[in-house]
Amino acid sequence: MCGITAHVAESDSLRSLLTCLQNLEYRGYDSAGLALLNGSEVRVTKSAGEVESLKQRVTNGDLEGEIGIGHTRWSTHGPPTDENAHPHTDCTGKIAIVHNGIIENHDQLRESLQARGHTFTSDTDTEVVPHMIEELLGQCESTAAAFRSAVDKLEGSYAVAMVVEGDHRVYASRSGSPLVLGLGEDSQYLASDVPAFLEFTNQVIYLQDGDVVVLSPDGYRITDLDGRPLERTVETMSWSPEDAQKRGHDHFMSKEIHEQPTAIRQAIEGRIDGDDVTLEEFPPGSFADVEAVQFVACGTSYHAGLYCEQLLGEWGVPVSTHFASEYAVSSPPVDGNTLVVGVTQSGETADTLEALRVASEQGARTLAVTNVVGSSAARKCDDALFIRAGPEIGVAATKTFSSQVTTLTLLGERLARDVTGSPTEGHESRLSALQSLPEQVESVLAASDAEQLAHRYRDSRSHFFIGRGPSFGVAREGALKFKEITYEHAEGFPAGELKHGPLALVTADTTVFAVCSGREESKLVSNVREVQTRDGPVVAVAPRSASSLLEVADDTLTVPATHPDLVPVLANVQLQLLSYHSAVALGRSVDKPRNLAKSVTVE
Ligand code: F6R
Repeated sequence: MCGITAHVAESDSLRSLLTCLQNLEYRGYDSAGLALLNGSEVRVTKSAGEVESLKQRVTNGDLEGEIGIGHTRWSTHGPPTDENAHPHTDCTGKIAIVHNGIIENHDQLRESLQARGHTFTSDTDTEVVPHMIEELLGQCESTAAAFRSAVDKLEGSYAVAMVVEGDHRVYASRSGSPLVLGLGEDSQYLASDVPAFLEFTNQVIYLQDGDVVVLSPDGYRITDLDGRPLERTVETMSWSPEDAQKRGHDHFMSKEIHEQPTAIRQAIEGRIDGDDVTLEEFPPGSFADVEAVQFVACGTSYHAGLYCEQLLGEWGVPVSTHFASEYAVSSPPVDGNTLVVGVTQSGETADTLEALRVASEQGARTLAVTNVVGSSAARKCDDALFIRAGPEIGVAATKTFSSQVTTLTLLGERLARDVTGSPTEGHESRLSALQSLPEQVESVLAASDAEQLAHRYRDSRSHFFIGRGPSFGVAREGALKFKEITYEHAEGFPAGELKHGPLALVTADTTVFAVCSGREESKLVSNVREVQTRDGPVVAVAPRSASSLLEVADDTLTVPATHPDLVPVLANVQLQLLSYHSAVALGRSVDKPRNLAKSVTVE
């Protein structure tokens, strides 16, 4: 959802900025740009399209500078054109700004600036900022004071970075949008996310809302909006630079699908002891006061919530799952005994953060289940539990779904023990199955027929995904993955709902993927027959033991036998591969699907 970056060094910054921008492209790829301080002059280059086209414009050798800012855009205000690309400048062209987020009061600010004679050249909300600073520079004692004064007037969410002609510093601040400082040996970085500069440094400071940072060749200084100095902790990232590379795969999505065995192992590590769950963050009794659990999440994370809601419900924990964007609009009742769990890979999704804020304001206890240490969700919630998946770069979430389900299953065991006073039924076999899950994912990856089926069904006009219980969450997730990267029509339903409407759409051109954990087999067989009666081809995604379903289906994607609560994780891997191979066969932009961006930091 737009990525911003900055680099301050002794030597030329252009290459580092381009690397950071390329590493940030998963946040938006409509247009890209950068501003370099070349001697004392600010030089801006920007263009519609991906960072690659920017790169072609700037690598002819005539652009250099030690200090710079960069931006890769996911359009909110104004279409993806050269004019709307960042950086934006003031009337003099001496102040350049990059911004991630939305400035809600930009209309009023623009009107008053125009009334005072400022000329705007773009449709963006961002452009108000350089014009405001242009005015404030004449009124404030220093550039830092002018910058602070401008950002203090902004409403909405922002992470902004600025360079000014003749001033060898980068000024930056955040409120509601992420911004991380990277401390290299002889240079410093700013970015919306750590993978941007991970190949240069793993020493990071997660800036907090209201922080203002000034980077100069000599170091950095963090203050609040009144200019009072602040201390922030330097953290060492455990992610390695290779984690954020493709490692021989054609796409990040493929690499991340294949990383799932490792991701699941990491999620489990040190958290299971025999038939007990040992969450360091939550010793027994941590949830003794909890009477109800609500998951709030978006997209794939919402589906992980749906999946685990089924498990917790069966284990006697009152639980519900909510779209975060809807939760903020009409939240269900909560009190001090309600645990609201924000499930969010990035920890920066604006809708989820807002739902958590609403829940907290109403007195609920909040918990972030996230991949990113130092993310807004992790910092703002009462507690955090990390899914430990490593960086996920592909816009389509894959490994983090498996890590979320694994982590939520462990959390669910702990919750159920505290809420009901006893361990869940069959926990020994479930925990043991969880420990074998990585090898089972490996065997799915090694022997999947998904690529073959992707080719067989590539001309289908519609793709339905159906399932019951936890498999419903995976049916929804299968459909989301399929539509987002193939651009083909796909929908996920509870299998029993088909006959209540969607069946009207089933023809020979509608492929139906029936996801089965093994438990709900006979009812699913009836649903499959309903589809086949209307000439729809059915692919069963099921364990080999689900023989009656596998026999009746037109095609199959099988998974190894495991605990029925975990079969849908394996089925999901098959569906990820199906989506991936379908998208490749259709020539889609797998890692950067159109109109989408990872980490949606606007509501
Ligand atoms: C789908 C996808 C999105 C995200 C959603 C929530 O593949 O990636 O649907 O799952 O935007 O993001 P997080 O989990 O970062 O809150």
